[in-house]
Amino acid sequence: MEMVEMETMRWLPLILSVLLVLFNLHGSFAAFSPADNYLIACGSPQNVSFQGRTFAPDSVQSSFVLKGQGNSVAATSSSSVPSPIYQSARIFASTASYKFKIQQEGRHWVRLYFYPLPDSGHNLASATITVITDDFVLLNNFSFESYNSSYLFKEYSINVTSDTLTLTFIPMNNSATFVNGIEVVSVPDVLIPDQALVLFPSSPFNGLSDLSLETVFRLNMGGPLLTPQNDTLGRIWENDMKYLHVNSSAVNVLVNPSTIRYTMSVTSEIAPNWVYATAESMGDPNVPNQNFNVTWVFPVDPNFMYFIRLHFCDIVSRTLYDLVFNAYINSDTAISSLDLSTLTGNLATPYYKDFISNSSIDSDTITVSVGPDTMADITGAILNGLEIMKISNDARSLDGLISVEGLLPKSSKNSKIGIIVGAALGTLATVGLIAFCYCCLIVHRSKTTHQGPSWLPLPLYGNSQTMTKVSTTSQKSGTGSCISLASSNLGRLFMFQEIMDATNRFDESLLLGVGGFGKVYKGTLEDGTEVAVKRGNPRSEQGLAEFRTEIEMLSKLRHRHLVSLIGYCDERSEMILVYEYMANGPLRSHLYGTELPSLSWKQRLEICIGAARGLHYLHTGSAQSIIHRDVKTTNILLDENFVAKVADFGLSKTGPALDQTHVSTAVKGSFGYLDPEYFRRQQLTEKSDVYSFGVVLMEVLCSRPALDPALPREQVNIAEWAMSQQKKGMLDHIIDPTLVGKVINAASLKKFGETAEKCLAEYGVDRPSMGDVLWNLEYALQLEETSLALTEPEDNSTNHIPGIPMTPLDPFDHSASMIDGVNAGTNDDPEDTATSAVFSQLVNPRGR
Ligand SMILES: *[C@@H]1O[C@H](CO)[C@@H](O)[C@H](O)[C@H]1NC(C)=O
Ligand SMILES: *[C@@H]1O[C@H](CO)[C@@H](O)[C@H](O)[C@H]1NC(C)=O
Ligand SMILES: *[C@@H]1O[C@H](CO)[C@@H](O)[C@H](O)[C@H]1NC(C)=O
Repeated sequence: MEMVEMETMRWLPLILSVLLVLFNLHGSFAAFSPADNYLIACGSPQNVSFQGRTFAPDSVQSSFVLKGQGNSVAATSSSSVPSPIYQSARIFASTASYKFKIQQEGRHWVRLYFYPLPDSGHNLASATITVITDDFVLLNNFSFESYNSSYLFKEYSINVTSDTLTLTFIPMNNSATFVNGIEVVSVPDVLIPDQALVLFPSSPFNGLSDLSLETVFRLNMGGPLLTPQNDTLGRIWENDMKYLHVNSSAVNVLVNPSTIRYTMSVTSEIAPNWVYATAESMGDPNVPNQNFNVTWVFPVDPNFMYFIRLHFCDIVSRTLYDLVFNAYINSDTAISSLDLSTLTGNLATPYYKDFISNSSIDSDTITVSVGPDTMADITGAILNGLEIMKISNDARSLDGLISVEGLLPKSSKNSKIGIIVGAALGTLATVGLIAFCYCCLIVHRSKTTHQGPSWLPLPLYGNSQTMTKVSTTSQKSGTGSCISLASSNLGRLFMFQEIMDATNRFDESLLLGVGGFGKVYKGTLEDGTEVAVKRGNPRSEQGLAEFRTEIEMLSKLRHRHLVSLIGYCDERSEMILVYEYMANGPLRSHLYGTELPSLSWKQRLEICIGAARGLHYLHTGSAQSIIHRDVKTTNILLDENFVAKVADFGLSKTGPALDQTHVSTAVKGSFGYLDPEYFRRQQLTEKSDVYSFGVVLMEVLCSRPALDPALPREQVNIAEWAMSQQKKGMLDHIIDPTLVGKVINAASLKKFGETAEKCLAEYGVDRPSMGDVLWNLEYALQLEETSLALTEPEDNSTNHIPGIPMTPLDPFDHSASMIDGVNAGTNDDPEDTATSAVFSQLVNPRGR
């Protein structure tokens, strides 16, 4: 076998590009010919040749229909345009769609090209882009203003199951929208399977065919950039270098691409031979220490699951059976003792494997590593290619939590006004005039469109459909600022300068934590109030949706046991939320891992009761219940008096209406706390929070993390471990040693253990409601207090305790009396009275 090995040369891609031209790429395999192959240059007056393909103008409407009018614009000078496909665009001032006839059902690439043409006569850079298919949300409210590249290319893989595919472009926030190029191209069925392996907890995942995917990374390890000219499926494969964790840990390997031996199971459609002919490999065998991993790190949105495909091809060995290694995704072993020779029977023969994973615990990244298998006594490891695709969530979205139904206006009756924008704007010269016109339009719009997103019980911002950037005063006067987002419903609007002052210019020494949304700083307002300032990454397109979710949620919810939102700041495309400061920080830090004094049993019970009240309020306090989705000990915060408050609604979503059995959402949340049923079925109910809360209860009892990989296998997962102990009646053997020997009432402990056990039931229907959990915990507290007061042995948890009504503790009992009992128990403070007022307002929309 001819072999060219090269040292680590960072200019290799250059050489490769030249080689790429020299080698004959064609001829060895018949190219796939797609049944549907739409390549469209939107708004273009003529054919556009791009990446070796011809894109036809969208004015030639042969087999697709453009519904709704749009302005076409073409760049006057093409020199500044990133590539030819971006030199024209179609601009829509109102909802419009392209409807494609589909010859052959099955997966299709939908590729979208966006570039805000500077000389279009419109401010396209501030336009928002929302794109949906018949069933899926592809892009939701994207704007170039908060994006760090001049153009946007998106690739989706969508299983079309009817004879048409409609792509709908929805202008939002009263701006226009646009698109430069569209591809709708058939994909061979074999490319994306229905099943892949979920890594943690390890289980097969079925049903991928019904889901949509978005390509986020597609890499040709150690090789050159491959463009549609080099790939029969029109894919782009990037070089991996910028994702390598330690740049020098890997060396590039390259063989002649024509030596790659495709098989029946791996054809050139899976990946072009250039992907398999190059690899990153674990250094040179002469390096003394071969015991390291080659690792790549990818930033991802932690709210989605990802489809991960690893491509391998042994181009490094001189004989068979000379390469055995491990592959890891995050810290999980994806493939152990991977022996390509045994799997493929030959050298230079491609192999790939698919996985499904979230981002790694507590971070927004996916890491992929290959490294030596210490058992095998053979060094060396390779990776040839890698694809990471985002999987649509249960809202059938690839961008945020809002479904197609939530985005499409209920009726398009009053959407005609939009078209005038294009006509009017072109003639306006000054920025001021444009801005004025824009404001008028927004005002006009917000008066004419009234319907809120269908899944919200109440209009959130007075009468505007979404978060329109018009203040109430400017609506009345027709003048004033168009920029500030102002509404009394949303708490205080902070100036960016105020935030800078409060946090000492985001002083890292004031950092309280880092979450999926961004960093959290401690701040002090001018009046001395201490606050927690949560600063979203201003460039994150994902973040905006969560920012809104969070403002929407928090501004509606006021409860003694929920962390309250004081205000927010959206100046300079910042996304900053200001919360009340919780002096004692997260519950977790009082349980383990710090030097803080150990909490007493009574304190622990009170904290759990507080958190349960907060969650119970979320589940039942408004007309539609709200599921927290990320209940964990770091999201339960303690104020200066150790009052527990539930935090972090960035992941929250309105729960099921009464007549529905579940609500669709992405599998979110944190490992160790994830409801197994939610993970299996991707169906979210309040019972998923109950499960996570059960994990919290066990953590509180045992003072150890939900997942502790350092422990023996059977103890790693607290839910499994504590349940096995509880079932054997040995829960008291694993409780926090600092509690042992202190006054801790056996009946109280028993009640607590039983409650946690019920929460951790395998199936949601078997778990109690949050109200029942609360009731049981209060009961456990009563048992503890009574025993403290009377020092009377309480060995029977069914004893009647004065002050607690004898209600059957039936987890299926959702009777109103149970809820009433709980409310009665919470009326001990004035804030809860205020809560009741909010409660009744939310339940009864006519109250507004
Ligand atoms: C555009 O391309 C199509 C297909 O490649 C071809 O049939 C058509 O004649 C071309 N039109 C022009 C104006 O060049
Ligand atoms: C597309 O979806 C249909 C219906 O769910 C399914 O039968 C088919 O196998 C899917 N195709 C692919 C390529 O996943
Ligand atoms: C490689 O990474 C995995 C997963 O993080 C880890 O378990 C393993 O110990 C690492 N191997 C080496 C040699 O560092």
